[in-house]
Amino acid sequence: MANPKKVWGGRFQKPTAKSVEKFTASIHFDKRLYSYDIEGSIAHATMLASQGIVAKEEAVKITLALKSILQDIDQGKITFNLSDEDIHMAIERELILRTGETGGKLHAARSRNDQIVLDVRLFLRSEIDNILKVLNALQSQLVMLAKSEIKTIMPGYTHMQKAQPVLLSHYLLAFWEMFARDTERLSDCKNRFNVLPLGAAALAGTSLPIDRQQTAKYLNFPRISPNSMDTVADRDFIAEFVFTASLIMMHLSRFCEDLILWSSDEFGFVEISDAYTTGSSIMPQKKNPDVAELIRGKTARVYGDLFAIMTLLKGLPMTYNRDLQEDKEPLFDAVDTVKDCLTIFTEMISETKFNSARMYKAASGGFSTATDIAEYLVKKDVPFRQSHEIVGKIVAYCLKNEKSLDQLSLQDYQRFYKGFSADIQEYIKLEKAVNSRKHIGGTGTAAVMGRIKEIEKKSGKK
Ligand code: ARG
Repeated sequence: MANPKKVWGGRFQKPTAKSVEKFTASIHFDKRLYSYDIEGSIAHATMLASQGIVAKEEAVKITLALKSILQDIDQGKITFNLSDEDIHMAIERELILRTGETGGKLHAARSRNDQIVLDVRLFLRSEIDNILKVLNALQSQLVMLAKSEIKTIMPGYTHMQKAQPVLLSHYLLAFWEMFARDTERLSDCKNRFNVLPLGAAALAGTSLPIDRQQTAKYLNFPRISPNSMDTVADRDFIAEFVFTASLIMMHLSRFCEDLILWSSDEFGFVEISDAYTTGSSIMPQKKNPDVAELIRGKTARVYGDLFAIMTLLKGLPMTYNRDLQEDKEPLFDAVDTVKDCLTIFTEMISETKFNSARMYKAASGGFSTATDIAEYLVKKDVPFRQSHEIVGKIVAYCLKNEKSLDQLSLQDYQRFYKGFSADIQEYIKLEKAVNSRKHIGGTGTAAVMGRIKEIEKKSGKK
């Protein structure tokens, strides 16, 4: 007696154990792919008909039924159950229920092995477009902030020590650049996997006279996979995507870390809006940057997703193995997490107030223009190593006498080097220090405005 409950039940003598049904099922998460599965099936049926593998009327019947199934799932009229195993089986069961024997013809020249890679590619193609949209919105927000904060000077840090004054706009655009590279990586990734997998069948292709060009055209794939074994075995495109998602999260988490620090009383550089912070259940005075902290925390999940995918693929024998079913949950998690985090971060940053006075005051301390004095001496032909030493001694003197650089007189400076002239007082001003860095990539107002103009020109704005 065959296993009558399964479409593959012919060679089986016993029904599947309930525990195995539960253990092997993926329907509870891959049901998310239903619209892509149906889109792929309609394209496949159309191709089968034009190749004479099924009759035209049969393809029409199948297509109509698939469209009504799509509508019913959209409206929540179809409930999936564990015995369906996965989304492919669930839809095929429903199709056969509605069309009888005709429905059974759809799976010719196809296997779930190429079907699942098709579904995932269609899904990821559209999700990458969604992520690109939110990334783009974040970048626009950063440019807007960079323009409105163009006068704000803040201390730039290395080793978390005050280093040199920079424009806040320069800081904001640093993240713009990082997200621009993430955008490129996402588009690259999409272009690489935007290839039709259908036709690979189980692993070796099919003896039926399929036309893959035609299916590719229906589904908007510019290319067709050139090797059926590679097609069903590999998931490098998923790894590549989750890696890119990890980089986006890493960039967000570094941004968040700064905002968390800067919103502390000690820094006081920013105030995150009440709408994007939360309170403490015990300490009434607290306003916590939880959103930023959670984005930093969720970065770990996405790294975990990447690690899961990489480990899943390592050492798998060719070609398809059921292990590959485990690629979906980390992929879905990475897609959702990165999209949510980008969206909420963009909202939060657009409602964050920068305290320019606090930033300016902080930038004035810590001898942040010491390098400018050293470079001043270089302009007077002092070798840089020597000027570095001279300024080091000036700083040591200031520390010992509790003075800042602008509290020294010209005579004080000249005690360390005769060649100092009155204009040294200019050189140690923050505005001068910032604006003298006017080369490409520098923090001077002209350079930063230049970059903003370039960015706006590229994105079609004036
Ligand atoms: N649910 C499976 C997956 O996600 C679909 C492919 C199953 N193929 C098979 N021959 N069992 O990978």
